[in-house]
Amino acid sequence: MSATATITASSAAPSPVLKLNSTSAEEQTPSTPAAEPYRYAHLLPHFSQTQYPPLTPFEHVDPGHRALARERKAVANGTVAEGSTPLPAFLRSPNVTVSEVTPNLGVEVSGISLSQLDDAARDDLALLVARRGLVIFRGQEEFIDSSPEAYKEWGQYFGRLHIHPTSGHPEGHPEIHLVYRDGNSTFNFERDDSITTLSWHSDVSYELQPPGLTTFFLIAHPHARGEGLEESYSGGDTLFTSQVATFKRLSPEFQEFLRGLKVIHSGFEQADYSRTGRRGGVVRREPVEHIHPLVRKHPVTGEEALYVNRQFTRRIVGLKREESEMILRFLYDHIDKSGDNQARLKWTPYTIALWDNRVTAHSAIVDFKDGKQRRHGCRITPQAERPIPAKEGLQLD
Ligand SMILES: [Fe+2]
Repeated sequence: MSATATITASSAAPSPVLKLNSTSAEEQTPSTPAAEPYRYAHLLPHFSQTQYPPLTPFEHVDPGHRALARERKAVANGTVAEGSTPLPAFLRSPNVTVSEVTPNLGVEVSGISLSQLDDAARDDLALLVARRGLVIFRGQEEFIDSSPEAYKEWGQYFGRLHIHPTSGHPEGHPEIHLVYRDGNSTFNFERDDSITTLSWHSDVSYELQPPGLTTFFLIAHPHARGEGLEESYSGGDTLFTSQVATFKRLSPEFQEFLRGLKVIHSGFEQADYSRTGRRGGVVRREPVEHIHPLVRKHPVTGEEALYVNRQFTRRIVGLKREESEMILRFLYDHIDKSGDNQARLKWTPYTIALWDNRVTAHSAIVDFKDGKQRRHGCRITPQAERPIPAKEGLQLD
């Protein structure tokens, strides 16, 4: 069944509401009633039927390498102390504030526009995101209110842009992955048969070359309002966790055992979800699964990170089924419970989050679905290198 998206006015929600229809059509795009214009109507999800061939391998050169080379030169020159990781130059300004989100993950920045960063600053940013896992920028009106073309120009600096096989995208811009939910419908990959809406994952980890630095922002936010309540943004936060920190918490003996393991990541369940007519009902590229190291090494920082997630990891290669299930369940529980490695991003208008999918995992929190409220976001997803095993010589093929 092919589902298409249309917008209808709803008395329950003051803004346009997406509903799934079961009609089939070659291509349809949501349209906004003239009486209720939505500022970001040009970014509503479109589910084209365009089919794409399998992705091909490419060489990824991480911009963070250039920043690290400059930093090492500064150490050699004596302008930076060895072993220190000073803030990059573009953040050292009286107008810019930078604060740590938690000791293990994230920094938050305000006072600078991402749209104004030159190439050297983008390199420095890539290194900062790699080191901190998550960098949150507030006050990004200039970037968010630019255009899909500008989003893509930004993302392409950090790697080849990924086209998602099943998600909605702005019409004409398949490289922009959209999340969309309101009180009546969702176009996300969600389960409704779980006791929690959490679903830890690293984006599209089933690809041969999964994403590195990733940019995401919301353009419509759930909010609280009502008698006795100040209007405030509430609901739809995103949880992040450091997979570097979760790995470090394990014993050296267990770490060494895990370094020798390989896991299968699969995109089949996500594709099947769409093939049942949910999310927009299209699969534009046949699903794949790939074998990755269970512990990967970041190409720039050299840090080791767990690379398993409940959403896409399926099995440890070479182990018996029960052994694989036991170890994966232990690791998933460890990720779930490790609040000491996590950060929770409360979205406010014009916030942009950048995370490194190689060393973090994240989950949306769908705690607003009874509120008839819209949560609408855009993701720009450059692919990076094929995961590098932490254990030297581990054969993946
Ligand atoms: Fe995600």
